[in-house]
Parts: sequence; structure tokens; C-alpha cells
Amino acid sequence: MAAFVSRPTLALSQLSSGTLLKPSAVLANAPIIIQQRKVHYTLIPCGKGGRSSFSGVAATVFGATGFLGRYVVNHLGRMGSQIVIPHRCDVYDTMYLRPMADLGQIIFLEWDARDKESIRQALAHSNVVINLVGREWETRNYRFEDIHVTIPQQIARAAKEAGITKFIHVSHLNADIRSPSKYLRNKAVGEEAVRAEFPDAIIMKPSEMFGREDRFLNHFANMRWFGKGAPLIAMGKKTIKQPVYVGDVAKAIVNAVKDPDCNGKTYALTGPHRYFLHDLVNYIYAVIHRPFVMYPLPRPLYHFFARFFEVMPFEPWTSRDKIDRFHTTDMKYPDLPGLEDLGIIPTSLEQKAIQVLRRHRRFRWQRDKLEDAKPAPTVWRTGKTLRGTLRSKWPQRVIVVLAIASVSYIISVQQDVQSHGECLQHAQRREMARNQEKLRRLEEMQDHILRMCKSVDRDSEKTGKAEKEMHIKEEKLVARVKKLFSNSLLFQT
Ligand SMILES: NC(=O)c1ccc[n+]([C@@H]2O[C@H](COP(=O)([O-])OP(=O)(O)OC[C@H]3O[C@@H](n4cnc5c(N)ncnc54)[C@H](OP(=O)(O)O)[C@@H]3O)[C@@H](O)[C@H]2O)c1
Repeated sequence: MAAFVSRPTLALSQLSSGTLLKPSAVLANAPIIIQQRKVHYTLIPCGKGGRSSFSGVAATVFGATGFLGRYVVNHLGRMGSQIVIPHRCDVYDTMYLRPMADLGQIIFLEWDARDKESIRQALAHSNVVINLVGREWETRNYRFEDIHVTIPQQIARAAKEAGITKFIHVSHLNADIRSPSKYLRNKAVGEEAVRAEFPDAIIMKPSEMFGREDRFLNHFANMRWFGKGAPLIAMGKKTIKQPVYVGDVAKAIVNAVKDPDCNGKTYALTGPHRYFLHDLVNYIYAVIHRPFVMYPLPRPLYHFFARFFEVMPFEPWTSRDKIDRFHTTDMKYPDLPGLEDLGIIPTSLEQKAIQVLRRHRRFRWQRDKLEDAKPAPTVWRTGKTLRGTLRSKWPQRVIVVLAIASVSYIISVQQDVQSHGECLQHAQRREMARNQEKLRRLEEMQDHILRMCKSVDRDSEKTGKAEKEMHIKEEKLVARVKKLFSNSLLFQT
């Protein structure tokens, strides 16, 4: 057991110091020669699953120094993985990657893509291999065929030979052998080559990625340097884009590493919304609060200007191939699994645009929120925005207007009928209430009259009695008077 413990520690320290490039030196010092992949103690998951635990993943990430690479390394480091980073740049240019994992978990290793031995050494101690190598332009040393076909093929072959079970290759959503872009044509060939070498490889096909260091949103925002104008082929009204957030792609890669069912699958990774390039560029300039003029530029003329950038000795700002790639409509792959199948909810462009574009704002707008920029209209399933549909050819416009008018007429008629019925019911209810009120009043009047009649009867009864008594009293009075005066002369005569 002591031998197992000492072997990887020694090997990894040698990896980082670069002495592993000489295998004889390792063999001389190492107590155990045969690598024990399955019992290597660092490959057994332990801990609570955070940065300081061990996830059981020992990953070699080729192309980790690029845009997507830093997000992948960060996610791997966060879950406690051991990461081997083959690089060809100065070691100081990789410094930002060092704190992304726990101490000693990231091992830097120099490699040469043309040296098969250096590829083998880079993945000798890993159980996962991720290939992010890519380039947007060709150089004298590396053509697109080398970067997108030969290098992935070599890595896939070396991974297969080393008995690695998980190999992830990043291609492009629009990779197609018939594409006008050489980059995309080679990506398609690269996919085939990787599949042939490593049938269980997981192929990720992201669309254009956006994020802080991207070359998509930043590219269009930087166009303002050239006369405050954004040249687009056909004003970008014929190109539909569905950009994806780089963090989502990195998470998708890490989730695919963890999921054993992903092997052999191809994933199409896209954002949640589709936009016309025209609307997207409009939105970018609305977010950065910069005036600009969007103008159409024919493809040959655009290519002509791009040639000047291509001959520059530094990273070309644009190229003919990039122009073709950016003006290619993003493909739809309804049959391929996507971000949701890897448990990720795609992040919309509007959520992250401000993070990417704030640095392009003038000082006055630096702290402003994003809300003041109207979101770009999204493309319908028909491939048009609502505005675009209404502005299209007149028969379609007439049909759309008629359809909207007839639907609104039907709705208004329905509402009329409904309200008429409601009115009738209301009137009936009011009439009934009125009748009931009248009935109640009549009943009250009837009671009152009855009561009056009774009181009149009582009064007349009383009057009759009084009259009778009066009459008796009168008679009695007459009788007394007669009695008193019966003896007088008057009565005698
Ligand atoms: N960015 C996007 O919007 C996008 C969209 C779809 C697909 N993709 C694909 O996703 C992958 C990663 O993209 P990314 O934007 O992160 O690329 P990136 O920023 O250009 O980084 C590419 C990486 O590949 C390495 N590399 C390039 N050529 C090499 C060579 N000849 N030898 C050794 N290493 C080499 C670079 O190393 P150095 O730093 O030493 O140059 C870098 O680490 C690529 O395959 C790309 O085609 C990107």
C-alpha cells in the first residue's frame, strides 16, 4: 500500500517539474513501474464533494489555456479533481489557472501537439481526457487540418491506447463538410476522425459562445473602432444565431464527465433563444450606449478587407473564414440531446450581456443597469421575428393581417354575444327584483287598509253605543222634566 502512495506523489511532482519528459528518469526513481489505474488512491472519491475533497476525476485538459478552458478547469477544480494542464505558453501565462483547484491538484506540463510522446505523458495518470484545442485562424505552422483534425485524432488515439474511458471532444454546432467556412469543414472531419479512433467519445457541439473573454459579443462591440459602423452581410437579416453561455458549456462538459451514460453521444449545446444577427448587433450597441451605423457589405468586399487583417503578424481581428462562420445560420438538431439533457438550464444572452459588454461603455454609462436596453426580438419557429413577418413580401403580409383581423373580429363578436347575454340576464334579474318590491308594497298596503277598516269599525261601534246612551239619557231627562212640571199650569192647559 505504501508503494501505491509513494508512486503517484513522486510521479506528479516530476510531472510538474517537467522531468517526466524523460521517462528513464522516472523509471529509475519510481519504486513501482506499472501504473495501477484502478487502485490509485487519488482516483477513489472521498470527502464532502467540495474543492478540498476528491471527486475521483483525474482529468487532462488539452487547450485549457483558452477561453472555454478556464471555465472547465474552474468547474473541475471546484468539485475536487486533479487536473493536468498541458500548455505550450510561458508558465507565467498560466498563473490565473493555479488558484482554481486545491493546492497541488493542478499539474502543468509542457507539450508539443506534434510530439505523440508528450501527448501520452500528459494523459498517463488521468482517467478523463478533454480536448479543447482549437484556433480561429491558420498560421504557417498550424493549418486548420492540423488543429481540428490531426491533433484531436492523435489525442483520441493516445487516450484509447492508454485505456482511458472518458474522452470529450469539443467541436462546433455548424460543423459541416459543405460549409463555406474552412474551420467548420475541418471541424466536421475532426468529429469523424475522433469517432473513428474513440467510438465512445463524447462530442460537444456548442454554438458561438459568449462570456467575458469571448470573441463574439466583444468582436461586434469592437467594430466601432472602424468608423462607428458595423458592416454585416445583408445587414445580418439573413443570418440567425443562437449563442450559448460559456459557463453552461463548461458545466455540460463537467456533467458529462460525471455521467456514465453520456459515452458515445453527441450533444448540441445552444442558448435558449434564436436571434437575427441584425437584432443581436442592435442589442449589443444598445447595451453599450454607443451610436453606430449598421450597413450592408457584400461578401467579396468584406473578404477583401479581411485579407489586410490576415497578413498581420499578431492575432487577426477578423478573417475571411471568421466572416463566413459568423454569417452562417446556426443549425437545429432536434434529435441530438442538449444542455437540458445534462441537467442545465440555458442562460439567456440578456442575463449575461451586461457582464461582457459593460467595459465597452463610456464612463457616463459605466454604472447604469441593463434594463434600459430593449431585449433583442427572438426568432419564431418560422424563422422570422414578428416585425420581420409583417415586413416580408406583400401576399404573406396580407395573409397575416387578414388572419389577425379575422381572429380579432371573431373574438369581438364572441365578446359582444357574451356581453349581450349578460345584459339580458341582468335586465331580467332587475325586473324580477322590481316586481317583488311592488308585491311587497301591495301586501303592506293591504295590511294597512285592513288595520284601518278594523279601527273604523271599532270607532263606529263606539259611536253607536254613545248615541244610544245619549238617547236614553234624553228620554230620562224628558221624563224627569215632565215629572217636575206635571203640576204646573202650563201643562194643565
Ligand atoms: N469560442 C467559441 O465561440 C467556440 C464556439 C464553438 C466551438 N468552439 C470550440 O471550442 C474549443 C475551445 O474554444 P476556445 O474559444 O476556448 O478556444 P481558444 O480560446 O482559441 O483556445 C484554444 C486552446 O487551444 C490551444 N491551441 C491552439 N492551437 C494549438 C496548437 N497548435 N498546439 C497546442 N495548443 C493549441 C490554445 O493554446 P495557446 O493558449 O497556447 O494558444 C488554447 O489553449 C475549440 O475547439 C473551439 O473550436 C469555440
